[in-house]
Amino acid sequence: MSKPIYILNGPNLNLLGQREPEVYGHATLDDVRDRAAIWAAQFSLDIEFRQSNTEGEIVDWIQEARSSACGLVINAGAYTHTSVAILDALLATDIPCVEVHLSNVFQREEFRHHSYLSSACIGVICGFGVKSYELAVEALAERLGAAAS
Ligand code: DQA
Repeated sequence: MSKPIYILNGPNLNLLGQREPEVYGHATLDDVRDRAAIWAAQFSLDIEFRQSNTEGEIVDWIQEARSSACGLVINAGAYTHTSVAILDALLATDIPCVEVHLSNVFQREEFRHHSYLSSACIGVICGFGVKSYELAVEALAERLGAAAS
């Protein structure tokens, strides 16, 4: 069995479905996980899906992913716009990483326009709600050379 894709979610994403539904939609984080798992299965990839409200825990998971994952999808939530620690953790990994956001951060407040993480990622997908995760998984699968079944 090959290594899974780690899909890591940052602060407040546990409240998906309840939190600002006009911005983030009505799907819950469990819905996101289920859809990402189905999408990944098309490419014969497994996912390891996690959420934390704590910056250090996300750093620990990225470090774990260096040896336990074949790729990384990250929605670091608000830490996207603040965290040099998460950037450094990503820079220390060799596996490909895709940054995702549910909302189109560029249509929102100016402070959301800058990401500390993008420079360490192969690409960024934002603005498509839950679909952003599916697109990220697909882009990662293509980069990894995983074949669609
Ligand atoms: C988010 C966008 C961030 O600006 C925000 O802080 C989040 C969610 C998104 O998925 O659209 O928590 O990452």
